[in-house]
Amino acid sequence: MIAVPGVDRRIYQHPILDFKWRGRKIKFYFEGKEVIGYEGESIAAALYANGIEIWSLSKKYNRPRGPFCMIGKCSSCFCTVDGRPNVRICIEPVKEGIHVQRQKGLPDIPTTWKTAEEEEILETDILIIGGGPAGLSAALKASEYDVNIILVDEHFKLGGQLKKQTHKFFGSKELFGGLRGFQIAEKLTEEIKKRKNIRVLTQTTAYGLFRGNWVGLASYNKLYRVKAKCIIVATGAHENYLAFPGNDLIGVMGAGGAQTLMNEYGILPGKNVVVVGSGNVGLIVSYQLLQAGANVKCIVEILPHIGGWFVHAAKVRRYGIPIYVKHTVKEAIGKERVEKVIITQVDEKFQPIPGTEKEIECDLLLLAVGLTPDIRFLAQAGCKMKWNSALGGFVALRTRYLETTVPGVFVAGDASKIEEATTAMIEGQIAALSAVIKIKGPIEKAVKEREELLKFLEEYRKSPVLRRTREGLKEVVIE
Ligand SMILES: Cc1cc2nc3c(=O)[nH]c(=O)nc-3n(C[C@H](O)[C@H](O)[C@H](O)COP(=O)(O)OP(=O)(O)OC[C@H]3O[C@@H](n4cnc5c(N)ncnc54)[C@H](O)[C@@H]3O)c2cc1C
Ligand code: FES
Repeated sequence: MIAVPGVDRRIYQHPILDFKWRGRKIKFYFEGKEVIGYEGESIAAALYANGIEIWSLSKKYNRPRGPFCMIGKCSSCFCTVDGRPNVRICIEPVKEGIHVQRQKGLPDIPTTWKTAEEEEILETDILIIGGGPAGLSAALKASEYDVNIILVDEHFKLGGQLKKQTHKFFGSKELFGGLRGFQIAEKLTEEIKKRKNIRVLTQTTAYGLFRGNWVGLASYNKLYRVKAKCIIVATGAHENYLAFPGNDLIGVMGAGGAQTLMNEYGILPGKNVVVVGSGNVGLIVSYQLLQAGANVKCIVEILPHIGGWFVHAAKVRRYGIPIYVKHTVKEAIGKERVEKVIITQVDEKFQPIPGTEKEIECDLLLLAVGLTPDIRFLAQAGCKMKWNSALGGFVALRTRYLETTVPGVFVAGDASKIEEATTAMIEGQIAALSAVIKIKGPIEKAVKEREELLKFLEEYRKSPVLRRTREGLKEVVIE
């Protein structure tokens, strides 16, 4: 299947989103056929909107690969763009006239292949990796202290996961209370643009920390070597996968991937949906799917109780969506893409109970089964890591000032543990102040501000819903 004639998955009416951001029409080519996207869309989003959902083939069995994470964290969207192999098209913008080709596995790249035309050597006080709420807040806070900052993000847009959040935030004006996530992303990004001491590099991946505090960055046509006095790692998290037959069919997607399509790009990820996982992300995405016009057939939860907050569960229950607790997905079935799913009841040991299977027709199976901190950069940098299931997996040991065991390398946001956007912003600010203090000494204002933020964070985490984080942090915060 290449283009699907007459398919238009774009949403044109929505109770919250107005899609005014859709820019001019852009013509590009997929496997030689003309496709129309809009300025501001990723290549992947534009393809999916047009019904083109097979983006690559697995190397051994030729299994089709399509959208899963939509934020550059898996590998299912690797394509060749204008001859450039292994481009993650979910974080690459559509551009006029580009030629996109499917890949079969990872192509062999000749050792003589020129990856970048230029190399630039940079020096900076603070390098921030990741332009989500943690990284943006870190950059803004640090910039108040007369230091130079480089902020890199591999996506073509700043904002991280805030861009897909349509709910209003709680709390005071300082915490952006009353604003929706995507509005906060816009506000922070606008503010970043005004600061003269912040240099922003988008579509640029930080790939490693080397001897002498040199960091390697790569964009599609340029390499950077950056010498930074301090580094703040705010690389976020990636979605968890689940093992069951058919889990690689097109239409089996991360819940966050579906949120990106629907809330960030205004594209309906599917019409009849089964959601696996009743944590907050599963409940929120179910409600957002209803808002976007999809039919959520059910939510499947392996635990004997709903995982997310009562307020979110009540919302989806009001719309009559069944939540099957003590159930799991047994198999996804379909020829080229998912057509139905078999769910089954489980016993106390989470084993399927034969004879309890239910078959549900659907075109989208969403996995909302948790997040894992993206610690790849931290691990490569040599930071000491510790497993902590309450925090989402392996995380870096850090001081209360968020410095890891590698001096001058700080961590903030989901990369430090799975939590939420408000705490990510506060952590970003704390890490920034710690970096400033490390570079400039204990400036009174910075020390005072940092203590206030730490106190605030401690109070904020007293909320019963953050109990697990609170407990987990006791295991990884070092002297
Ligand atoms: C898939 C997903 C769905 C979520 N849904 C919700 C929700 O519905 N409601 C809710 O309240 N919270 C949600 N959250 C949680 C909340 O959004 C996060 O807690 C918050 O965004 C964390 O902020 P952050 O800045 O740490 O990370 P992120 O917002 O994830 O930002 C990380 C940034 O780092 C960039 N990056 C990563 N690696 C590199 C690299 N090597 N080089 C350069 N750039 C890099 C990424 O492109 C990204 O922009 C979700 C989180 C995820 C991951
Ligand atoms: S990396 Fe693009 S869909 Fe996951």
